Amino acid sequence: MTAIRNIVILTGAGISAESGLATFRGPDGLWEGHRVEDVCTPEALARDPELVLRFYDARRAALATVQPNPAHRALARLDRAWPGELLIVTQNVDDLHERAGAKRLIHIHGELLSALCRACGARERFAGSMLDGPPCAACGQAGALRPDIVFFGEIPYRMDEIEDALLQADLFVSIGTSGAVYPAAGFVQIARTVGARTLELNLEPSAGSSLFEQANYGPASRIVPEWVERLLARPDLV
Ligand code: APR
Repeated sequence: MTAIRNIVILTGAGISAESGLATFRGPDGLWEGHRVEDVCTPEALARDPELVLRFYDARRAALATVQPNPAHRALARLDRAWPGELLIVTQNVDDLHERAGAKRLIHIHGELLSALCRACGARERFAGSMLDGPPCAACGQAGALRPDIVFFGEIPYRMDEIEDALLQADLFVSIGTSGAVYPAAGFVQIARTVGARTLELNLEPSAGSSLFEQANYGPASRIVPEWVERLLARPDLV
């Protein structure tokens, strides 16, 4: 088999689960006690800004209590060591990939540690609380900052770059995502159209598992480091 050169890796909430961050679609169907549509839509923000801002303030504060796990660290190691193209596309809004050291990373659904100004459109690094309406660092408007999170119905970030990378990919790997939310759930199909090999690493088969040529099931903290070591040792095998 030909050696792999260009890799795209998609990650979801499952990669951060063992760090202590809740996934979205747990057994109770709730995210930290809320229905996703009550906190994760533009309509929710318009209807009850206090609830939404308080919810994301709490998620942001929780980042200080968690650490990257071996799966994040293994992907950062792969990013450092891999001589070909590599792109990690995460649906996660936590900062655990970058704290582990990953550099070639896109947050397709935004970031908890970023604010989006509804007055001027600026995106800025933000670590505090939005509830008390701090001013935008760019335009000075108070009370205009919202979480820089891509809510349902909004357009994900940097799709052009991601599609370009997928069209060049030799290998597409999906880690810790249920495959329930588009466009990310469709990346495997784009990769397949260009003949990329496809691999799913997840706790259990996802909604789209039949689309993957290969799969490994188990906790990310075990199966991701194992896969990274295998790939670095033998880049012609997946
Ligand atoms: N190791 C590997 N996979 C795991 C682990 C683990 N320790 N724990 C859970 N998983 C798997 C679950 O089996 C599930 O398939 O991770 C997946 C998590 O799925 P979701 O909770 O649906 O999260 P995700 O796919 O990231 O959600 C996508 O939905 O609400 C939106 O914008 C939000 O980015 C999010 C998007």
